[in-house]
Amino acid sequence: MDTNRPISRSAFLKLSTRWLAGLLAAPITGFSYSRWLEPKWIETNYLQLPYTSLPRAFHLKKIVLFSDIHLDFHFGIHRLGQLIERIRKLKPDLICFTGDLFHESVESHASSTIRLLSLLEAPLGKWAVLGNHDYTAGAKDVERVLSSGGFTLLRNRSVTLEHGGSQIRIAGLDDALEGSPNLDFALADEGSREHDPAAFTLFLAHEPDLAEYAASYRVNLQLSGHSHGGQVRIPLVGPLILPDLARRYPEGLYRIADEMYLYTNRGIGVSSYPVRFLCRPELTVITLESTEA
Ligand SMILES: [Fe+2]
Repeated sequence: MDTNRPISRSAFLKLSTRWLAGLLAAPITGFSYSRWLEPKWIETNYLQLPYTSLPRAFHLKKIVLFSDIHLDFHFGIHRLGQLIERIRKLKPDLICFTGDLFHESVESHASSTIRLLSLLEAPLGKWAVLGNHDYTAGAKDVERVLSSGGFTLLRNRSVTLEHGGSQIRIAGLDDALEGSPNLDFALADEGSREHDPAAFTLFLAHEPDLAEYAASYRVNLQLSGHSHGGQVRIPLVGPLILPDLARRYPEGLYRIADEMYLYTNRGIGVSSYPVRFLCRPELTVITLESTEA
């Protein structure tokens, strides 16, 4: 075959047209994928965390974590129903929601949201904290929806969870950007005198970067959201935009200290822009493992 033969004019035109079509199609396909497909393509991540400080009674208990739904911002009640069904199938022992249930307003979906949240079942409880967008939507209204849906809202307080003759502590912080957070009330012995200060502590805070401060207290597992993982992640570059208090720990598992982990969930919905790229919405299933001697 003669590889030096000059390309014909018609072959050149054909090749050029294909290249041009490819160049035009790539951004259109990329945009369609990030606008219509990836935001609806929920990934369920599973992990198991070992603790010497976890009582044996809580060994292999399963936490399902979800966050940042932003209802009414490119996320309707139908998709909430699908999400609830998906969480139910995971058969959680404990359900944690780390804020931003609504985007801007509660009114249009309050009763249907209460009905759907009520369908969630977990023998060790359904726990929640507020996010910054919940304040935009109206903190009192969001609190009413969450509690009517069977969730216990933790605003700068902790609660003792008893099971099998043992106790752990579950604590939650008010939103750090729009609310009135107080780590002493949420976590310090002064704020929870009735609790055993040595108890294993699960801590919910909307903003993940608060882990830096929470590490000064007795916290074994902090669960957060807020970052949305950046929503758009460019290969070799990383997330394009991260909000305040989600820049240091934007996504996934971090070991903050001995016996203290942080998990930042990428959220279910979208915020600011209705796109996701290489940053799928996420449900997290965390199994606690007691390595107590
Ligand atoms: Fe959010």
